[in-house]
Amino acid sequence: MMDMPVVTSGDARIPAVGLGTWDLRRGTCVQMVEQALRLGYRHVDTAEMYGNEREVGEGLRASGISRDDVFVTTKVWPDNLAPADFARSTKESLARLRLSHVDLLMIHWPSPRIPLADTMGALCRMKQEGFTRHIGISNFTVPLIKAAVRLATEPLVTNQIEWHPYLDQWKVVGACRRHGLSVTAYSPIARGRAASDAQMRRIGANHGKTASQVCLRFLIQEGAIVIPRTSKPERLKENMTIFDFELDPAEIDQIRKFSHPDGRVVDWSGAPNWD
Ligand SMILES: NC(=O)c1ccc[n+]([C@@H]2O[C@H](COP(=O)([O-])OP(=O)(O)OC[C@H]3O[C@@H](n4cnc5c(N)ncnc54)[C@H](OP(=O)(O)O)[C@@H]3O)[C@@H](O)[C@H]2O)c1
Repeated sequence: MMDMPVVTSGDARIPAVGLGTWDLRRGTCVQMVEQALRLGYRHVDTAEMYGNEREVGEGLRASGISRDDVFVTTKVWPDNLAPADFARSTKESLARLRLSHVDLLMIHWPSPRIPLADTMGALCRMKQEGFTRHIGISNFTVPLIKAAVRLATEPLVTNQIEWHPYLDQWKVVGACRRHGLSVTAYSPIARGRAASDAQMRRIGANHGKTASQVCLRFLIQEGAIVIPRTSKPERLKENMTIFDFELDPAEIDQIRKFSHPDGRVVDWSGAPNWD
């Protein structure tokens, strides 16, 4: 079985492909986590908001893969970003996962209601107290990345953001690089849109690959960690078999041209303007 490549950020070694689990429920979630780990995935992404941490933990145990060989992430929802809530929420996530610690704990979305300094303090304490090996942020904009890095007393290893060929994220990606954070691309196949993209399919034909594989490979070559989700066992292998081919510079250029600042597939309309 292929060893999963990793992206390093500080002393974190983050497997470059993880399984996204948003919207995976009950038996499907257990089965997909179990199967993914058996196939060679070593990174599973969940969040308190997904309501499936119990099932993610169950899938992990059912896989028979050693706990220490899997990079498990979870995220604290904005309602719980005040320090006391943050610690309680993290411990509840761990109880549902039935784990003593996660590998990466993230702030799911920033909150304009709770001072960032308080939340960053709470996040860092979770690492210092051993509830997580690494800490990170998600959905942080350029000014918020800067503020988070300034306030953190522990290294931030990633910013998990929406990123796929249709969304121009170069400013945020640039800020992450300047501050030494890796970028984890969520919705990396644009919630399925890339899978049926005719141009991506044509590029794939040059390599004997599907449009989804081209899309994920593009993000990997741009330096991202990708966390595609699927509820179909047969697609798990497809989504991780992206390390046996390389897109050439002309193909990368062609795909870069698809991107647009308004290309989001995840709805930000409820999100306040933090800038
Ligand atoms: N931090 C955040 O705020 C945030 C926000 C959104 C998502 N996320 C994380 O990122 C993960 C991935 O994002 P996402 O779930 O929004 O979208 P995604 O992974 O880009 O797309 C998932 C969709 O693509 C389909 N799909 C997957 N593989 C495919 C393939 N090989 N061929 C054709 N279709 C395929 C899936 O359908 P089938 O199930 O039918 O295969 C599903 O409908 C989430 O699950 C979650 O863990 C984080």
